[in-house]
Amino acid sequence: MSTDPSVNNQLDNSEDNLSVGPVYWPRVKEILDHIMERWIERWGRNPLPGIHAYYWETRDELADSVLSGVRAIEPGVEGKDTQLVRSLARTVLTFGRMPLRGPFVPREEIDEIISWIDAGMPEGPE
Ligand code: HEM
Repeated sequence: MSTDPSVNNQLDNSEDNLSVGPVYWPRVKEILDHIMERWIERWGRNPLPGIHAYYWETRDELADSVLSGVRAIEPGVEGKDTQLVRSLARTVLTFGRMPLRGPFVPREEIDEIISWIDAGMPEGPE
């Protein structure tokens, strides 16, 4: 058995959270806000205005978002196939993986976003 507490935490998490979810809007916002915080830290500047939105204050803003001409979450499209998820996971159309040049959202957090979209993008429980 490892005595490294971070390893134990990972085990605890995986027991509590066999699949991902349920995931609600505040968690999705936290993931996106956090990755943009890290991006700004990494590059030492704010993202250029005029490319597309980088922050989504409400669930509806993200649900309706069109980024550089691309609908981020097309109704009826599975979470994993949405352009939002594709942009975070690999490349979107001919553009690079987002946020451009990284750091990128870890796979487990992308899975949380997928699970949120597939659950109908709930604001919160009920
Ligand atoms: C439908 C999904 C998306 C599309 C089509 C898209 C498209 C683009 C395009 C065209 C650019 C400019 C590329 C260039 O200058 O060469 C860009 C830059 C960028 N995008 Fe996205 N994007 C998407 C999603 C996202 C998401 C979800 C985030 C953040 C969580 C993000 C963060 C950024 C950042 C930080 C930049 C660089 C800005 C800068 O250099 O100042 N993008 N994106």
